Amino acid sequence: MEIREYARTILESGGLDAKLAPPARSLEDRTPGAPLILGLPARDPDIRIRPGREVKVPAREGMCDPAQRIRIIHAFANHELQAVELFAWALLAFPDAAPEFRRGLVRILADEQRHTRMYLKLLSRRSAAFGDFPVSGYFWAKAGEWSSPLRFIAAMSLTFECANLDHASDYGGLARKAGDRELADVIEVVHREEIEHVRFGWTWLNRLKAEGETAWEAYRRSLVWPLRPSRSVGRQFDELARTMAGMEPSFLEALGRETD
Ligand SMILES: [Fe+2]
Ligand SMILES: [Fe+2]
Repeated sequence: MEIREYARTILESGGLDAKLAPPARSLEDRTPGAPLILGLPARDPDIRIRPGREVKVPAREGMCDPAQRIRIIHAFANHELQAVELFAWALLAFPDAAPEFRRGLVRILADEQRHTRMYLKLLSRRSAAFGDFPVSGYFWAKAGEWSSPLRFIAAMSLTFECANLDHASDYGGLARKAGDRELADVIEVVHREEIEHVRFGWTWLNRLKAEGETAWEAYRRSLVWPLRPSRSVGRQFDELARTMAGMEPSFLEALGRETD
């Protein structure tokens, strides 16, 4: 099967089985085709993307209450599913990107499928299911702005996934504090793997930036307002994770100087 066909199946199938079917090792990329920019993904009625005003996710304080925690896990599953879909989206949008870049997108997509499945399993062990609560399309709302691989990795890898390093440290700690080891362990795995996703973004930022431009300058100019560098930072700045992802100190210093 071609990567293109595989990515299309993820976006054009409404059900989770098709979206979460891992890529075959034999996947080929001989005919990436012309750029294909798809809008919102197909989703079965119970998991369709709803307007933000219809979606209520408890604040982090809700982590100490099992009933609210379920809703937070449900939202995490939707974040991961959106990531699966958006990496598929990028494979269709950027057929001319370097083969190594495209292979990297497929690898990350497979990680995101696994992350989604881990949260779905947690839900089912707690007698809940994906689709029990309305879900939003926060990340999808930005896809229209990603006119190049550089813009894609600036937003996806270096803003959303980077912020997730901080959120994962924060929520992992809250889960442990609440005595929910099972959830804390899943968040820890996700956190560790997201470091590699940020590393992918960092590596490609440096390869795709213009000559003479710093990584920071390339990152800044690649974000479309209201997305901005401060959105890549959560409550707790996980400097170690960013350093493990390869980010250089001058980039982190510049980020630290951004107030909003
Ligand atoms: Fe993930
Ligand atoms: Fe990720």
